[in-house]
Amino acid sequence: MIRLRRLASVLTTPLAPEDILALFNPVFSARQLRGVVTRVVQETAQSATIYFHPGRGWQAHLAGQWARIGVELDGVRHWRSYSLSAPAGTDPAITVTDVGAVSGALVRTTRPGDVLFLAPPQGNFILPEHPRSLLMLTAGSGITPVMSMIRTLVPRRPDADVVLIHSARTPQDSIFREELAELADQFPNFRVNQWFTGEQGRLDFSSTVELERICPDWAERAAYACGPEGFLDDAEALWAAALESGAIGSDVALRDDPGSLMIERFTTSLAGGAGHDGGLVTFESSDREVEADGDTPLLDVGEDAGVLMPSGCRMGICHSCLTPLLAGHVRDLRTGEVHGEPGQLIQTCVSAAAGPVNLEI
Ligand SMILES: Cc1cc2nc3c(=O)[nH]c(=O)nc-3n(C[C@H](O)[C@H](O)[C@H](O)COP(=O)(O)OP(=O)(O)OC[C@H]3O[C@@H](n4cnc5c(N)ncnc54)[C@H](O)[C@@H]3O)c2cc1C
Ligand code: FES
Repeated sequence: MIRLRRLASVLTTPLAPEDILALFNPVFSARQLRGVVTRVVQETAQSATIYFHPGRGWQAHLAGQWARIGVELDGVRHWRSYSLSAPAGTDPAITVTDVGAVSGALVRTTRPGDVLFLAPPQGNFILPEHPRSLLMLTAGSGITPVMSMIRTLVPRRPDADVVLIHSARTPQDSIFREELAELADQFPNFRVNQWFTGEQGRLDFSSTVELERICPDWAERAAYACGPEGFLDDAEALWAAALESGAIGSDVALRDDPGSLMIERFTTSLAGGAGHDGGLVTFESSDREVEADGDTPLLDVGEDAGVLMPSGCRMGICHSCLTPLLAGHVRDLRTGEVHGEPGQLIQTCVSAAAGPVNLEI
C-alpha cells in the first residue's frame, strides 16, 4: 500500500495524490476535513440551514454538539463555530443567523455543491444519559443545538417529557416555528411555548413567576438554555438563587452542572481589558508588527494585520487558537488577569497585549 502510494506520488508530483483525488471528489482530503453542501433552506429573513455531506474522517455528532466550519472569503479562510441542528444519526446541518461577515456569507451565498472546511463535532451540551423530564429555554439562534436534541429525542421516544420555551422577536423571526408546532401536535408529551418579545416584552427571569406559569414543575426538570448573553445570565442567576433557596433540590442537579442548568453560549463578555494599555505586538514568523490596544483580542489584532491566525469558537472554549508566547505579558479579557511566561501557549481569542508582546506565529 505504502509502495503504491509512493508510486502515485511520483506520478502526480508536484500535486499530492490527495490533491488529485480531491479534484474528482471535493470532500476527499487526507489533510483537511471537508463537507459538500447538499441543500440550503431559508428559515427566516436572517437565517438559513445548510445541510452538508461530510467526507472521510468526520465523526457522527451527538445531538447538541457543535463543529468549527471554515469558509473562504476573498481567499482567506475564516473559522467559526456552529451548533449542528440536524438530529443525531443523520448527515449534519448548521443553521446560521446573519450577524456579521462570515455568517452573512454563509446565509446569503452558500449553494448546493459548495465545499465547507470542517473540524470534528465537539461539546458537552448534550442530552442526559438517562431519561429525564426536560426543560429547554432558548432565544433567537440559540434554538439550534436544542432543535437537534428535540429532533433526535421526541420522534424516537414519544414518552419523553419535554417542554420548550422559545423566545423570538416576532413569529416570522422564530426559527423552526412550523416544525416545532407540528411535532407538538404529533407528540403530546412535547410542549412548545413560543414567546414573542415584540408583543410580550422580554421573558422575565427576575423571579420564578413566569416560569411557574408556563411550566409549573420547572424545578424538577433537567434544564438546558441557549441564547444571547443577557438571557443566559438571567437564567443562570435564577437557577443559582433557586438552588440556594432550596426551590431546586440538589438531587435534581445534573451530574456535570451543580446548578442543574446546562448552558451553551455563542458569545462571551470580553470586558476585562477596558481602560488598560496595550503595546507593540510582534508576529515573529509572519514578520508583522502592529500597535494594539489593551482590550482587543490578539486574534483580531493578527487577523487585521493579515496574519493567518488559527481560530475556532473565538470565546475561549475550544483551544484552537493556542499560540506560543515568546516574550511579554497578556491580559485575559474574561477576568482581567495578566500573565505570560516565555513558551506559554496563549488563547489569542481571549487575550490582549499588556505591554509589548512577541508571538511565535
Ligand atoms: C459553540 C458555538 C455554537 C454556535 N452556534 C451557532 C449557531 O448555531 N448559529 C449561529 O448563527 N451562530 C452560532 N454561533 C456563533 C458563530 O460562531 C459566529 O460567532 C457568528 O456567526 C458571527 O460570526 P460573524 O463572523 O458573522 O460575525 P462577527 O463579526 O464575528 O461577529 C459579529 C457580532 O455578533 C455577535 N454574535 C455572534 N453570534 C451571534 C448570534 N448568534 N446572534 C447575535 N449576535 C451574535 C458577536 O459576538 C459579534 O459581536 C456559535 C458560536 C459558538 C461558540
Ligand atoms: S478560538 Fe476557541 S479558544 Fe480561542
